[in-house]
Amino acid sequence: MPFTLPPEPTTPMTSEAGSFTLGIVGAGQFAGSFAALWNLHPNVVQLRVTDVLPERAEKLAARFPRAEVVASFEDMLASDVDAVAIFTQRWTHGPLVVQALQAGKHVYSAVPMAVEITEIEQIIAEVERTGLIYMMGETSYYNPATVYMRHKIRAGELGRVFYAEGDYVHDMDLGFYAAYQYSGGENWKATASYPPMLYPTHAVGGVLGALPARAVSVSCIGIEDDRGDGVFDREVSQFNNSFSNATALFELSDGGAMRTNEMRRVGYPSPIRESRFRFFGTEASFEQLAHHTVWNDKKDSYDISEQFIPVRRGAETLQEVDPDLRAAFSSGTAPVHETARLPAEFDGAPNGHEGSHHYLADDFARAVVTGQQPPVDAHRAAIFTAPGIIAHTSALEGGIRLPIPDFREASGSE
Ligand SMILES: NC(=O)c1ccc[n+]([C@@H]2O[C@H](COP(=O)([O-])OP(=O)(O)OC[C@H]3O[C@@H](n4cnc5c(N)ncnc54)[C@H](O)[C@@H]3O)[C@@H](O)[C@H]2O)c1
Repeated sequence: MPFTLPPEPTTPMTSEAGSFTLGIVGAGQFAGSFAALWNLHPNVVQLRVTDVLPERAEKLAARFPRAEVVASFEDMLASDVDAVAIFTQRWTHGPLVVQALQAGKHVYSAVPMAVEITEIEQIIAEVERTGLIYMMGETSYYNPATVYMRHKIRAGELGRVFYAEGDYVHDMDLGFYAAYQYSGGENWKATASYPPMLYPTHAVGGVLGALPARAVSVSCIGIEDDRGDGVFDREVSQFNNSFSNATALFELSDGGAMRTNEMRRVGYPSPIRESRFRFFGTEASFEQLAHHTVWNDKKDSYDISEQFIPVRRGAETLQEVDPDLRAAFSSGTAPVHETARLPAEFDGAPNGHEGSHHYLADDFARAVVTGQQPPVDAHRAAIFTAPGIIAHTSALEGGIRLPIPDFREASGSE
């Protein structure tokens, strides 16, 4: 079965397993949450930090006694650092990842993997050529709904899953204006128009992180923005983009269908739940709203909401992050999460995105010291990312149905 999702580890890593040094590339709003965890991880002996704005690197490094500032990305790659974690702006990852792999570094990349199909092909080729670890830090892989459904689908409790939905519903007014201003400086409007379907992984990854399939074709409708404030304006946009919302319907490799929504202009409380999922099987189904989660069979509907509510923690360390985004950066694990595999050092440590940060930080450290690729390796990252790239092209072409490449076939792997 080519798309089998790997079993979860059951025991925590300890320092005896090995150690490595890790360079953080991009010390903006998001990097600090992960740097704090790797600083605690038993297999990470030292952090190094770089940013094109040196004061950001210095500020982040100052939080950790063993951390060092490195002058540039190039200097980081030329150094003896074992691995790098890329936290630069979302459209920049592909080329930086390829450069890092070519320099012999293991790579953790924030989402998305890339914004072009050719960049995905290059990353997969470099990972296969070098044997280095590549991981995309997809938070929805450990979203409580995805964790729960991974187990339920594996156990066959839904029967045949023939339809699923994943939505990433995050309004621009809820923190994104401030985030893009911090990120983009004076010309922030040019990048705040980033096409919604080029950030597909929190929707697609939450479904295909539970359902072992890939998307094989797509038809997508883009919604033209009409607020008129210069964001999502083609004249201003670095991406020539005027879609602020988009809806895509995918055909899956198992004969089923998947629908995703990427919404940036929407009356929806993303601080409560920004990714929401539905799965329909022949025997049972699962549905989520902002506050509610239900399991349905042919007799009844069961409210299982409480198992999916992450424990909120304080957000006092998140000064870089707009108050509307802090809820996402400060949530702990939910009852459905299995925490026995996490290092004891993570007990009480800051978490985020519905409890996922601890798992992602641990997955990468585990992969580097064991030499085994993590669950969201280059192939799975491609399965989560490429559907959105092709969906955006479909939307630009009026919703035409387009095929999505199969990177396993291309690379000759399983
Ligand atoms: N749920 C999630 O998975 C999630 C949530 C938030 C952000 N993210 C991702 O995290 C990444 C970072 O987001 P952010 O909000 O911190 O962005 P940001 O703009 O705040 O930070 C990016 C930093 O990278 C630096 N940078 C850019 N190019 C560089 C280079 N070549 N060398 C060194 N530094 C460089 C910038 O100066 C900036 O400080 C994005 O890709 C975003 O998609 C993911």
